Amino acid sequence: MNVLAIMGSARNRKNTYTMLNAFLEGMDADDISIFVPSEMNIRGCLACGACAKIGKCAVSDDMERFYEKVPTADCMLLATPIYFNGIPGEAKKLIDRTQVYWSQKYELMKNGPGNKSRPAYLLANGGAPFEFNQFTGARLTADYFFRACNFDFIGQYCISKTDSFEVANRQDVLKELKILGNKWNNKEKYIIQR
Ligand SMILES: Cc1cc2nc3c(=O)[nH]c(=O)nc-3n(C[C@H](O)[C@H](O)[C@H](O)COP(=O)(O)O)c2cc1C
Repeated sequence: MNVLAIMGSARNRKNTYTMLNAFLEGMDADDISIFVPSEMNIRGCLACGACAKIGKCAVSDDMERFYEKVPTADCMLLATPIYFNGIPGEAKKLIDRTQVYWSQKYELMKNGPGNKSRPAYLLANGGAPFEFNQFTGARLTADYFFRACNFDFIGQYCISKTDSFEVANRQDVLKELKILGNKWNNKEKYIIQR
């Protein structure tokens, strides 16, 4: 089983990283590809329209490594901190560049990447105390992103107030994430807020 994961924080080994690793620990994957957008050379989408004509992105950069993994992944994980009620810019650039898959399907009427229904999960954390729309922006973006790449949005696990504690010190959360990771292929939908 192949996992394609995005670790959207610019901070290594902090809350986002910890959430992702707890989930991955439960998954028992054969192959894990983790992409860290803040460490990649990714241009934003140029809206040049090339993908709508040729079904490929005209820009040559580190996205090529990501495109290579999408068709064969069995599961996608988007782990991200909340910045200004949304996903940080570096990760959003990666997401925008999957416009190529949207174009393949809706401009060129071809199949997108992969040929089966595949689960995808959003793991998010925000430093502020919980508020109703704290994760709404990230959820809407993740939903569109997963669908563009031909994944089904199955679960969303969100943690508030991470500027007041380290996820690494929350054994309850780590245990829960590991259990959810283990059930990655159950396809029972959930939204969990901690
Ligand atoms: C530029 C910036 C914007 C942020 N905006 C929000 C926000 O809108 N809502 C929120 O809850 N936390 C916000 N935060 C706090 C981060 O979500 C929080 O520190 C998070 O735990 C960072 O994840 P990390 O520990 O993996 O780096 C922001 C932090 C930064 C640096």
